[in-house]
Amino acid sequence: MRSFQEQVCCSQVDVVIGKDYVEELNSINGRKAVVFSKNLKLEGLEADLLIPLDDGEQAKDLSTVLSIVREMFEKGFDRGDYVIAVGGGTVLDVVGFASSIYLRGLKLVNVPTTFLGMVDAGIGGKTGVNFQGIKNVLGTFYQPSKIVIDLKFLRTLPIEELKKGMAEVIKYSLTLDKELYDYLSLNKDRVMAKDEDALEEVVYRSVKDKLGVVKQDEREEKGIRIVLNFGHTIGHAIEAGSDFKVPHGYAISVGMVCEAKIAEEMGYSEEGVVEDVLWLLQLY
Ligand SMILES: NC(=O)c1ccc[n+]([C@@H]2O[C@H](COP(=O)([O-])OP(=O)(O)OC[C@H]3O[C@@H](n4cnc5c(N)ncnc54)[C@H](O)[C@@H]3O)[C@@H](O)[C@H]2O)c1
Repeated sequence: MRSFQEQVCCSQVDVVIGKDYVEELNSINGRKAVVFSKNLKLEGLEADLLIPLDDGEQAKDLSTVLSIVREMFEKGFDRGDYVIAVGGGTVLDVVGFASSIYLRGLKLVNVPTTFLGMVDAGIGGKTGVNFQGIKNVLGTFYQPSKIVIDLKFLRTLPIEELKKGMAEVIKYSLTLDKELYDYLSLNKDRVMAKDEDALEEVVYRSVKDKLGVVKQDEREEKGIRIVLNFGHTIGHAIEAGSDFKVPHGYAISVGMVCEAKIAEEMGYSEEGVVEDVLWLLQLY
């Protein structure tokens, strides 16, 4: 189990990795609305309001936000109460948005249940829903006060979903964290076999790497957070060009290779970088 805190602008973010989420959430004092993916079975969780959601991109819609807000309003939820989001990136994005606008912000706890949610979507404070068929047009920057990562959720996650999140982990290893690159190089079998110690190390380093960037440039105004977009300019074009049939993780993998090649050709990176990028991506 690992826990640490980061100060991001004016918010303190507590991170707990590798602890039973029910125990951790039940220890929070206060009224709690738990908004969760319908695909998950939550047992033993104490809550004042339970709101099950469909997940997936279609759930990232204003109508979902309004349905969450309406239920909290009817139950008299107030500032000082908690909203707990349990699910993959789509659930975290929509619940984060709802909690940021209701009474100008209730305390948000993120409990990511997909690998992508744990290493990326649950961290950094970007919330959002899609609008007119375009992704994340409506959104806010709103930091969760707590992020609870229970690796047991990954036991039921299909290996394809693990691979999609791994693209973002590889991105951190290439841009920010050589030790993570070395760890991934040496521990592929353990990671892909879902060995919980190996996953804890990978998730811990990814959360630290991302938060380390976000706390320096929360709102992408200083040209620092842009490092997290490595592979994403070309990746987004591939996703959009395929009508979103190519999953995000695979699109940004191709994007990272192309962007590394451009950097190498233009003399912005050393020779051999493209090989390093390709080698690790092919390993996973
Ligand atoms: N806010 C951010 O910074 C940020 C960063 C990256 C991605 N995102 C967003 O995240 C979304 C993608 O997230 P995602 O890949 O988690 O998709 P998702 O939320 O659609 O989840 C993928 C699938 O996994 C299932 N699932 C969830 N937990 C599970 C578990 N423990 N076991 C088995 N199945 C489980 C879900 O029901 C769903 O079918 C996109 O909308 C993207 O825009 C946001």
